[in-house]
Amino acid sequence: MKVAVLGAAGGIGQALALLLKTQLPSGSELSLYDIAPVTPGVAVDLSHIPTPVKIKGFSGEDATPALEGADIVLISAGVARKPGMDRSDLFNVNAGIVRNLISQVAKACPAALIGIITNPVNTTVPIAAETLKKAGVYDKRKLFGISTLDIIRSNTFVAELKGLSPKDVEVRVIGGHSGVTILPLLSQLEGISFSDQEVADLTKRIQNAGTEVVEAKAGGGSATLSMGQAAARFGLSLVRALQGEKDVVECAYVEGDGEHTRFFAQPLLLGKQGLSEILPIGPLSAFEQQVLENMQDVLKKDIELGVKFVNQ
Ligand code: NAD
Ligand code: LMR
Repeated sequence: MKVAVLGAAGGIGQALALLLKTQLPSGSELSLYDIAPVTPGVAVDLSHIPTPVKIKGFSGEDATPALEGADIVLISAGVARKPGMDRSDLFNVNAGIVRNLISQVAKACPAALIGIITNPVNTTVPIAAETLKKAGVYDKRKLFGISTLDIIRSNTFVAELKGLSPKDVEVRVIGGHSGVTILPLLSQLEGISFSDQEVADLTKRIQNAGTEVVEAKAGGGSATLSMGQAAARFGLSLVRALQGEKDVVECAYVEGDGEHTRFFAQPLLLGKQGLSEILPIGPLSAFEQQVLENMQDVLKKDIELGVKFVNQ
């Protein structure tokens, strides 16, 4: 199993690489790439950790040496938010970075599973899809926007509020990965009940949790360590599914079956080809139904922006 991390010298990339170095199965290879010249050094640093995972680092303009033979590519390359910015403000810089890296993935490892972390995820995933399509290698089962941070945040906040162990809470989060498009399905948590006020407050906190970190870091970037953990969880789920493990379920932002917007974060069964089955989102409360309706226009516009960017 070879996993490539693009953007590996960044805040998320380094945390993710550390977690993968310590948690990938024995015999795996970890390949780190970033335009930053420090990247081979990051790999040397990690290589001193005694785990049976080989690691190499690459920098420069060409990602190909890092990508060759990769089964999974996780992309966190790009700029992060500062206070006062929305994720959509990152589009101008990150759209081109994602298009460029995906073009290289399309040539070097067209069959790899791809996880996109770079924001705005609602738009960078359509950019990746259209770029792969242009290259003639798009397979919608293999492209994922990583929205796992919304899930682990939801688990943490619910557990805190209800005095539970976060290990015992697993919230499904659907929609997209920005503000009103983030919809945690709190009504589906068995054995946990909430007042209407708690649902409203928790939903708002989960939707604004990225901004909570951006403001707390006060110009020093956005979530990196919790995102490293979230991306490692999602990446390791892909590894387990590729290795033939059954019943690997994650929510992620994928091109669905047309029931919602073209790209939509939803529960998925993962398998050897990546996305094996889209699972039902299940029953929604009236509140959740309303949030779902309200997000449609925003999500559609975000998707359209990405499609146009590649095809204009
Ligand atoms: P960072 O600035 O710490 O790291 C980004 C890295 O990308 C840098 O090392 C930079 O050199 C590298 N980079 C830039 N252009 C590149 C290119 N063309 N090729 C290769 N590498 C390149 O930022 P970060 O905090 O790690 O965040 C990275 C991205 O992840 C941001 O867009 C951020 O908004 C996003 N993010 C997403 C989620 C999510 O839930 N999906 C969560 C947190 C952050
Ligand atoms: C997050 O949810 O923390 C990330 O998408 C980063 C951001 O800009 O909020």
